[in-house]
Amino acid sequence: MPRRILVTSALPYANGAIHLGHLVEYIQTDIWVRFQKMRGHEAYYVCADDTHGTPIMLRAEQEGITPQQLIARVLEEHQRDFAGFHVGFDNYYSTDSPENRAFCEDIYAGLEREGLIARRPVEQFYDPVKEMFLPDRYIKGKCPKCGAADQYGDACEVCGSAYSPTDLVDPYSVVSGAKPVRRSSEHYFFRLSDSRCQRFLKEWTRSGALQPEAANKLDEWLAAGLQDWDISRDPPYFGFAIPGTGGKKFFYVWLDAPVGYFASFRNLCDKRTAAGAPLDPDAFLRPGGGTEMVHFIGKDILYFHALFWPAMLQFSGYRTPSSVNAHGFLTVNGEKMSKSRGTFITAESYLALGLNPEWLRYYYAAKLNATMEDIDLSLDDFVARVNSDLVGKYVNIASRAAGFIRQHFDGRLEPVADRERFAAEFPGILSGGGASAELFERREYGKALRLAMLGAEAVNQFFDQHQPWALAKDPTKHAELHHVCTSALNAFRLLTISLKPVLPKLAAEVEDFLAVPPLTWADAGTLLPAGHRVRPYRHLMARLERKQIDALVDANRESMAAPPSQQRHAEHQVHTAAKTVAEVAAKATPASAPKAPPSAAISIDDFAKLDLRVAKIVKAEHVEGADKLVKLTLDIGTETRTVFAGIKSAYDPAQLEGRLTVMVANLAPRKMRFGTSEGMILAASGEGPGVFLIGPDAGAVPGMKVK
Ligand code: MSP
Ligand code: ZN
Repeated sequence: MPRRILVTSALPYANGAIHLGHLVEYIQTDIWVRFQKMRGHEAYYVCADDTHGTPIMLRAEQEGITPQQLIARVLEEHQRDFAGFHVGFDNYYSTDSPENRAFCEDIYAGLEREGLIARRPVEQFYDPVKEMFLPDRYIKGKCPKCGAADQYGDACEVCGSAYSPTDLVDPYSVVSGAKPVRRSSEHYFFRLSDSRCQRFLKEWTRSGALQPEAANKLDEWLAAGLQDWDISRDPPYFGFAIPGTGGKKFFYVWLDAPVGYFASFRNLCDKRTAAGAPLDPDAFLRPGGGTEMVHFIGKDILYFHALFWPAMLQFSGYRTPSSVNAHGFLTVNGEKMSKSRGTFITAESYLALGLNPEWLRYYYAAKLNATMEDIDLSLDDFVARVNSDLVGKYVNIASRAAGFIRQHFDGRLEPVADRERFAAEFPGILSGGGASAELFERREYGKALRLAMLGAEAVNQFFDQHQPWALAKDPTKHAELHHVCTSALNAFRLLTISLKPVLPKLAAEVEDFLAVPPLTWADAGTLLPAGHRVRPYRHLMARLERKQIDALVDANRESMAAPPSQQRHAEHQVHTAAKTVAEVAAKATPASAPKAPPSAAISIDDFAKLDLRVAKIVKAEHVEGADKLVKLTLDIGTETRTVFAGIKSAYDPAQLEGRLTVMVANLAPRKMRFGTSEGMILAASGEGPGVFLIGPDAGAVPGMKVK
């Protein structure tokens, strides 16, 4: 009986680029889904961008665009990156969608009906200038323990001590620089402390949906007692208004994010149904449909997926997850990914530099298992394993056998297909489909690949033993040569089945070479027909060169100090990680950077002559008749200046207003055709297209000196 499975990966935030850390999860999930489909099951893999919340709202504002514009742009980038790594979603959507709003409202109504929504006041820091409540990560100040300046509201990066934002000395808002004040407001809570929730979660934890280590974690959390969960935020907030609040309260992003799984699936169902292949959402989203719902997530978001999410669903009439599979975090060379070391590697840069995505898929799969242990991308080991195993063992079989088959037998296999003889030669390979399937099912990909590589080693040994190059020289040995190459290609085909979930593109090329229809698990244990004709062999996969890895690391290295610690998640997140496509492309394509070396040295006195100031663009206007210029009105604290800047090719004036940049404030005024320019602003450019305005980090104010 085919299973019916809805599969998800966590929804990436819509304000950052996809990086190799994310890809652990999307590749892990994609392999599982491809495997299920090859087994003949009905599986749907859905995902979406996680678009709501304060960081996205503020980032859009900083870029001078609407949140909708920001999320539309990032959606494109994310989909492009995932497709580049062969992550085959059945649907990729957005949490900022009508389907998501409808599900959120319905779930909320269900919880309210059950008496599980409470209201009570909460006192929080408030930014009186920006007129908004400040999440902890948006408050900085002096560390109460060691006095270090500019520390976040939750912990000091200098001395490591943890505290709450109220402990900070001289706190200020990261958004406006203003001194925050305490203010109270009514919040909405999901009453997780209710005994029904506790009882349900105790049972659900042990239902088999969780990995043993995750179930233990949950026991700890449950034993500590669950607090009610604050699910509302005050405006300004980019998200969905809570019904019945007159737009005064919004759902916290972490309420609507997992609901986005449903929204994406619903959207898929509607598209399929419209296309004449009806798919019923209720069979997957309501209890009792005989279907499975399987989530893949990182260990950092277990709390949301194993506590809040199942409880939300249980008490609003929806189905609960069949399983929540948490994986560990990616480290590179044994350390956290780091921008200064160049190991915070974006998906885009990897692809832009022409590295083969299946190298990474193979390496991750070789490292993955069913636990929450971190996985390490050791760059030396990456090169070694791809070359010695994937290319050196597996791909090598085809390239060794194909030439003889073409040259001596016109591309045809032996005229007999002797199953028993093959079984004697490669017992493990002929019957290996079952063991391999069992390992993929349990997410033990590393073990599944080891099995395949053992098989590949056996085939290479078989080849070496029979010395086909010697057989080819002796016409009386051609039948034996034919047999050796036929067996090798049969083994190659069978190994391809168990590698196909990991290497879908390579497998498609193998299918083309072998002239067979797409391989499925039903092909395991079978041989190619007698006399079958294969196509000419084209080289299947190149070796990974160490210098490609070095170029990748260089392209991702940030010369300046790494941004403040990357504490992630929702409101706690100030996303300095995200770069624009132009920025990444400029880095990933060294050719567009100027080749000229730095100019001759100047003295510090020469440099000191420049009066560089932080300037706020208060007005940006088109200049009638000028095709390059934008007229800027700049606030430099003590006065305003008019500057004509040649940035029209890269910026829409409307998007510039409100942004901070840096200007040369003591440049002699210059009369131009359109008026007098009273200074210059700083922007970067290379040999290729693109102008990139320079801007200070958050916290700087107009008039500050830049030196
Ligand atoms: N938006 C939330 C998830 C909402 S799901 C309803 C989020 N987004 S994220 O972009 O930060 O991360 C997306 C997924 O990628 C998460 O499961 C996270 O654990 C995973 N990873 C992000 N960085 C990672 C590594 N460095 N290593 C492994 N997985 C990582 O969380
Ligand atoms: Zn400190």
